[in-house]
Amino acid sequence: MSEIERLGVVGAGFMGSGIAESCARAGLEVVVFEPEGPPLERSRAGIERSIARAVGRGKLAEEDGEALVDRITWTTEIEDLQRVDGVVEAIIEDARVKGSLFKKLDALLPDARFLASNTSSIPIAEIASWTRRPERVLGLHFFSPVPVMSLVEIVVGYDTHEDVVALAEDLSRDIGKHPVITKDRSGFIVNFLLVPYLMAAIRMFQDGFAAREDIDEAMKQGCGHPMGPLTLADFIGLDVLYAIGDSLYEEFKQPEYAPPPLLKRMVVSGAHGRKSGRGFYDYDSAPTPTKA
Ligand code: 3HC
Repeated sequence: MSEIERLGVVGAGFMGSGIAESCARAGLEVVVFEPEGPPLERSRAGIERSIARAVGRGKLAEEDGEALVDRITWTTEIEDLQRVDGVVEAIIEDARVKGSLFKKLDALLPDARFLASNTSSIPIAEIASWTRRPERVLGLHFFSPVPVMSLVEIVVGYDTHEDVVALAEDLSRDIGKHPVITKDRSGFIVNFLLVPYLMAAIRMFQDGFAAREDIDEAMKQGCGHPMGPLTLADFIGLDVLYAIGDSLYEEFKQPEYAPPPLLKRMVVSGAHGRKSGRGFYDYDSAPTPTKA
């Protein structure tokens, strides 16, 4: 057991909400902070829908579902995080915005056991450098949709203390996730392997090599993947995928990571995948966004 009983989540987007839901399912008290009200309302509604679906499918008793929602507090006041044992941040992928948040959290929570970022592309060392205790800063990288995906990458920053890593491993297991440990370099384990594959699929489509449906069906039926690469790119969010590819290319300067021209054109045109209603496919309604 990790001895973490109360967790703070900063960012009420798709990832933050999924992290909150997974932790509350495991019995933790969760405080979700976001400065604006509407994302918090969407987060609450999304979690209630997810719980109702689980209750409807007989996977959760109704009273357990209600107790789970009661364990989550949604707040616009950052001071409400003061009573948590550790924080996971899941906000916009912007190093300066994350850095200034960590500076605030560092001052606000002198006793927190850890301050974690769910970043998929920003160096943990850079985020940690905004704090006075970089030894308690690490990456906890969850996968989308968080309540379904069982992996957590624990990203060990330049100064992260080994006790903090051990605590994160215990916490991951407490919430039913499988932790893997990775060093702090762009892409960690999963995106280092996944992103070149997704970029290759986009290049294949861009160059007219095969139809989008055939690219997707080939990988579903040929390799047993639950989603084909273009559907998965839409699901992750094309803006998010672009940012990750860019950061990998910046770090390693290898062409397989570079976002193809088509991806850039789609992103600047607002075709961000499922959450925007259009990407490699069109979506009737815009489902829940994939990032805070
Ligand atoms: N929240 C909670 N539960 C959800 C959910 C959500 N957003 N979406 C689906 N589920 C649950 C359903 O309730 C259902 O649960 P049950 O089996 O207990 O009843 C289960 O997931 C299966 O859902 P569906 O039957 O509706 O749909 P599918 O069978 O098509 O599965 C999927 C949907 C789980 C998303 C599947 O298509 C999948 O695994 N896709 C690949 C996802 C993936 O690769 N994610 C990683 C992305 S990379 C990443 O996140 C890293 C980042 O840095 C880019």
